Amino acid sequence: MPIPTIPADLSAIVPPVRRLVEVTEPQLHGLSRLLIDCVDGGASVSFMHPLPPAKALAFWHGVAAEVARGERALLVAEDAEGIAGTVQLVLAQPENQPHRADLSKMLVHRRARRQGLGAALMRSAEAVARDCGKSLLVLDTASAEAERLYLRQGWVPCGTVPGYALLPHGGLCDTRFFYRLLGG
Ligand SMILES: CC(C)(COP(=O)(O)OP(=O)(O)OC[C@H]1O[C@@H](n2cnc3c(N)ncnc32)[C@H](O)[C@@H]1OP(=O)(O)O)[C@@H](O)C(=O)NCCC(=O)NCCS
Repeated sequence: MPIPTIPADLSAIVPPVRRLVEVTEPQLHGLSRLLIDCVDGGASVSFMHPLPPAKALAFWHGVAAEVARGERALLVAEDAEGIAGTVQLVLAQPENQPHRADLSKMLVHRRARRQGLGAALMRSAEAVARDCGKSLLVLDTASAEAERLYLRQGWVPCGTVPGYALLPHGGLCDTRFFYRLLGG
């Protein structure tokens, strides 16, 4: 069942972030390039290195289908070269957790890091989550940089699972779980 959403006002967030409700073919290719760059850079984001373009594109086609059904929210930030950052909210949850969403695939291209894009994407995702009626967000990460970002944004760490996933170039990594309560 599609989840009713009210468009969140992201206009005050800098750098600019927007929510895609339909994902075009050029945007799918831009998102694929971004994902490949993050995997090339060693990010533990579900994929092993090397990530073939066709596999990356297939992943984003799947995301786009869920976005079209209202099951996911997809946010992007762009620079002169195209999509430079993205994050998702998994809105569709079991019927006993309608208040929860998972924050997922927070990716900033290496060319655009350390300029506040990650923080802007987090603020935007939280605004969209609130507008979708969500009051609890959950995420996990294997990245020290991402951990610092989440802690700065008020997320609460709640435990680490050792050896949770493989890094893209091999070797197990620990994964830390975080939650965020979206107060009034
Ligand atoms: C984690 C990630 C999303 C952070 O994105 P980002 O856009 O670099 O994040 P920000 O710019 O908001 O913050 C990063 C750092 O830059 C600093 N920064 C932000 N704006 C800055 C500016 N204008 N000038 C200098 N430094 C700045 C922040 O203080 C922060 O510093 P710290 O790492 O020492 O704590 C990015 O590194 C990434 O995509 N990593 C690979 C994928 C990944 O692992 N994602 C997490 C999955 S859970």
